[in-house]
Amino acid sequence: MNEPLDTDYLVIGSGIAGLNFALLAAEHGRVTVITKKKPADTNTNWAQGGVAAVLASDDSFEQHIQDTLVAGDGLCDRAVVEIVVNDGPKQVQRLLDVGVRLARDAHGNLDLGMEGAHTRHRVVHWEDVTGREIQRALIAAVLKHPNITVLDGHIAVDLLSLAKYGGDPACFGAYVLDIHSGEVKTICARATVLATGGTGKVYIYTSNPDVATGDGIAMAYRIGAACGDLEFTQFHPTVLYHPHAGSFLISEALRGEGGVLKLANGETFMENYHPMKSLASRDIVARAIDNELKKSGADCVYLDMTHLDAAFVRGRFPNIHERCLSLGIDITKQPIPVVPAAHYQCGGIKADHNGATTIQGLYAIGECAFTGLHGANRLASNSLLEGMVFSARAADAVRSAPRIRPAQVQPWSYGGATDSNDAIVVTLNWDEIRRFMWSYVGIVRSDKRLERARRRIEILRDEIREYYIDFKVTPDLLELRNLALVAHLIIESARRRKESRGLHYTLDYPDHLPEARHSEIQLTNGPRG
Ligand code: SIN
Repeated sequence: MNEPLDTDYLVIGSGIAGLNFALLAAEHGRVTVITKKKPADTNTNWAQGGVAAVLASDDSFEQHIQDTLVAGDGLCDRAVVEIVVNDGPKQVQRLLDVGVRLARDAHGNLDLGMEGAHTRHRVVHWEDVTGREIQRALIAAVLKHPNITVLDGHIAVDLLSLAKYGGDPACFGAYVLDIHSGEVKTICARATVLATGGTGKVYIYTSNPDVATGDGIAMAYRIGAACGDLEFTQFHPTVLYHPHAGSFLISEALRGEGGVLKLANGETFMENYHPMKSLASRDIVARAIDNELKKSGADCVYLDMTHLDAAFVRGRFPNIHERCLSLGIDITKQPIPVVPAAHYQCGGIKADHNGATTIQGLYAIGECAFTGLHGANRLASNSLLEGMVFSARAADAVRSAPRIRPAQVQPWSYGGATDSNDAIVVTLNWDEIRRFMWSYVGIVRSDKRLERARRRIEILRDEIREYYIDFKVTPDLLELRNLALVAHLIIESARRRKESRGLHYTLDYPDHLPEARHSEIQLTNGPRG
């Protein structure tokens, strides 16, 4: 019972980074991809905008680099920005090669969209559902590949670390809960690749799908991996405000095509905040909206597309048009009610130029990684590109990963845990974390708010730890445990940054410090849940 399974490369997560890594690494090894739900339940699948790359004759690599650096508010690592931007055209070609459809203009050239803080048209897209199209093509290729096994309905519990066996910290796989059978499997691998996406579900209002619970970041932290810049949660300025909308993003591409932000009385306001007005970077626009909502007490602001040609709007944004129409909003005739919501984690698990973390055998790619590309605020549509670039680099790097594992691998032990009889604890804690994170660790922070959040998360983490010991693991409990740890890491990172920069704005330190520094957070005193 519970013999370890063996693979060369264990990939946790099935978004753009995980699947592209799997396809490339499968050329030189066996790959196992695990995914909590179905392979398409990812943040990638929900991405609307597209992939930024220098393809226009009036554009240049230096211009894309500059736009990324300016959006990142002084905190991007230029070397990483150069790697990513210079690789853009090649990665767009790779997407086409794996069968991704991309929109073309009347001359057959790739259609290049505009988004906030970009100074050129450079976003390749497929209508307004680019992520869904990328996900479709990558999954089709992965499912056909003889060297790749996809295990859906499998959620990682914890990473396997040699430190537990008296060795140096090194990762050799993961314990994985098979949600269908309830069995916790042991999967050993030469390289374990975290591609688990972001942390949006830490907040009550988010554009992210339910899977975005920061699992990779939490697991990596628990075995001692360095993490960084976690205070930089990106709040997307425009998520649909409607009681039945769920988390529906209104892509920044709408503003790129001429959409204008307005108040309920029809007045524009972004000119009071930045010369780029509605197309300023996301940190600035989200903060401006937050300020306007607090000033007026209104529930939302509006994105007005009604001055644009209706046929163009319907053709360029068919998905958004249809979704809004189903809720009684015709975006060609009425302004769209919008609010900011948590969208993207700019920090994550510290990873080098090849996706290697500070733990041997452990790699992090995509949103869960902190590469230094985004600095204090990510430039729109740089994230799918980052996922492509670092998955390719990691797939190359893992070729030389040595096989490390103890002679005898301990199977998962349930100890004295029993079936849960108090699942309400999970639901309530989950809800409480997400609410206070929104109120105290949101768009505008202060020392007092962060201290309130710190006190609350410590109480909840104690409760969750107790519950985790007493009861058998379930997907909800695992996600809650990860969510609570990630909330703690975000709060701690925010408390340590004594300045306002990019997405981290605090009333107590409204200015930049003279020197831009990354934050780093790492477990130093033994594993905690
Ligand atoms: C959007 O379409 O506004 C989202 C694109 C992104 O987050 O880069």
